[in-house]
Amino acid sequence: MKRVKVWDPAVRLSHLAMGVLVLAAFLTSEEDDTLPLHMRLGLGLLGVVLFRVVWGFVGSTHARFSDFVKGPKAVLTAVRSMVRGKPEHTLGHNPVGALMVVTLLVLLAFVTMTGIVMGLGPDWSGPLALSKSTLHLVKEVHEGAAEALPVLIVLHVLGVILSSVLEKQNLIGGMVTGFKRADDAHVEPGAPSALRLTAGFLMAVVLAAAVVLGLWRVLPSGVADAAPALLSTYEQQARAESPSFERFDVARGKALYFTEHPTKNGATSCATCHSPDARQEGRSPVGKRIDPLAPSANPDRFTDAAKAMKWFDRNCTQVLGRPCTAVERGDFLTYLSSL
Ligand code: HEC
Repeated sequence: MKRVKVWDPAVRLSHLAMGVLVLAAFLTSEEDDTLPLHMRLGLGLLGVVLFRVVWGFVGSTHARFSDFVKGPKAVLTAVRSMVRGKPEHTLGHNPVGALMVVTLLVLLAFVTMTGIVMGLGPDWSGPLALSKSTLHLVKEVHEGAAEALPVLIVLHVLGVILSSVLEKQNLIGGMVTGFKRADDAHVEPGAPSALRLTAGFLMAVVLAAAVVLGLWRVLPSGVADAAPALLSTYEQQARAESPSFERFDVARGKALYFTEHPTKNGATSCATCHSPDARQEGRSPVGKRIDPLAPSANPDRFTDAAKAMKWFDRNCTQVLGRPCTAVERGDFLTYLSSL
């Protein structure tokens, strides 16, 4: 038996990065306030996957898909020999492992790409401007595909452990050190020249980095990006409404929020129900809890233009005795966004 260098540093590092990024993306996927980070982790993951795919064509001997991707016949033969407890010795990925490698890469690419479509598409706030129903569909597909990941990863790890036992060598350690054992008679095929490897490596890095950096700049930086988008709609309406309109104003919005008006329930302002601090929960006259109105405290606020409009109409009419103008709606939202 002799030790042979099988996995180059690019294979090992990209493998490690994928594991870490998948875990981090899972941990940040549930809470609204970690979603911006989640999107960036996902984008980084897509970059690593892209790099690995390109490296699969231009990388070192055992990094290449042509080295390990085999047809169904070879996969069946390998499964049969594993079942018999006498696995054929493959220095790179064996045909069954290779199937898993390709499946995982395809799934990771799919999950990250649907995630990016979601990030770019929320109604009038993202550059893709998807409709609510399309966005919902993409979300379902993204989450469903992401849930398949842990299942496949567990199978992958179990497969590696099983192969380690059958082949009597530590394959996990091999992915860390890069070395595996081979028969003395084993002859390594000729490796690509250092020049070709360097050129291939640079190409893979540049391609992956270009995609990541390009998308990084257009991905929204936070879920609360909805308010600015709605504000620009109100701004257009305000210009159409009054030619003298210049800009929305925090102080005017604040005055609208706190000024009391006589109503059938006595003197009432927006603060009566929405609480004097709009970052806090409010309470309706019948004691029903109202979620905070300020987008900084409640990212769901002002993400739905029709819903916002419905409540502006209803609540302004109740407090002021008339619907709010576009200038008032813009001032109000500008004040809330300043909190
Ligand atoms: C009588 C109680 C009450 C008063 C007074 C009141 N609101 Fe509301 N407001 C509500 C309730 C209830 C909701 C909807 C429940 C929810 O979305 O949590 C709501 C929701 C809203 C929303 C929806 C935001 C979104 O898109 O999610 C806006 C905008 C709003 N109110 C504006 C105002 C303004 C402007 C005033 C003052 C002129 C005001 N409200 C006064 C009870 C009130």
